[in-house]
Amino acid sequence: LRHEVLSELAAVTDLKAWDAVRVATLGKSGRLTGLLKALGKMAPEERKLRGVALNRLRDELTQAVEERGRALEAAALEARLVAERVDVSLPPAPVQQGYIHPISRAIEEMTAIFGAMDFQVAEGPDIETDWHNFSALNTPAHHPARTDHDTFYLPPVPGLDVARVLRTQTSGVQIRTMLAQNPPIRIIAPGRTYRADHDATHSPMFHQCEGLVIGQDITLGHLKGCLIDFLRAFFGKPDMPVRFRSSYFPFTEPSLEVDIGWSRKTGEIGAGEDWLEVLGAGMVHARVLANCGLDPRTWQGFAFGMGVERLTMLKNGIPDLRSFYESDIRWLRHYGSDP
Ligand code: PHE
Repeated sequence: LRHEVLSELAAVTDLKAWDAVRVATLGKSGRLTGLLKALGKMAPEERKLRGVALNRLRDELTQAVEERGRALEAAALEARLVAERVDVSLPPAPVQQGYIHPISRAIEEMTAIFGAMDFQVAEGPDIETDWHNFSALNTPAHHPARTDHDTFYLPPVPGLDVARVLRTQTSGVQIRTMLAQNPPIRIIAPGRTYRADHDATHSPMFHQCEGLVIGQDITLGHLKGCLIDFLRAFFGKPDMPVRFRSSYFPFTEPSLEVDIGWSRKTGEIGAGEDWLEVLGAGMVHARVLANCGLDPRTWQGFAFGMGVERLTMLKNGIPDLRSFYESDIRWLRHYGSDP
């Protein structure tokens, strides 16, 4: 039996087979257990003789079984450690990271620059009433300026007596703000705007950022200082030339267009002999103030509006407007910024 068990133990290679040998030897009905039980039926003399030898054999086999078990356990653990080894020197798999869209980023920057000048952010709805988008801004029906806007009109709602449009400009937020809060007012209103126009430089949806300042002694000088400071901060060019040109908007008087210096030859922004138009502005028209219940003899102010895409294209050298809306991950990686 001794040889039999020892060679069986030597032959097992896993813990399951080892356990089978253990049970078949030392278990309740195991081979050695059977021999030990048989001692009871023997004559005292014989029992004494055989008992000593069998007890010794039991000790030896018990020890052999335990040793083999420990060896197999150690081998199993070793095998697992090898199988589950992590190679810490491998380069990590790249993490898919998102980027801030340049439009979001530009709006964040505008908010930060105007925020430092004490402006608050105001909002209005994308679906705007014809009155807020046009009439209250001194652009009544049949006003020639209306046709410039390629307006998306919404179908009339039965029982609702207001015409609705997708806002063609953020200027309606001027009206909403003046109606909702008392001056002094100092707000910007970034947001989506819509015009039925689509080519390399026009998108049916685009973004504007409006600005409005109302107070008791606000002058054109404030307008100029504010916009010069903003443009130089936004483009990061403290000496950038800024030019104001006379223009026309129905809701400002006088109206201005604002240009920044650039070089046609080198394409450089903020220096050079040429000019680029970047935004529209003016002193809020007395009729607009009156439409919002403000007495123009007490309150004056200025307003401005800029195209977020246009400013972002100039700042980052983005050539095609349409690329803003294509969700091309390579484009986002290039022009977007880390969160
Ligand atoms: N709303 C004008 C536009 O879309 C811009 C503007 C805003 C001009 C405020 C003057 C004052 O072109």
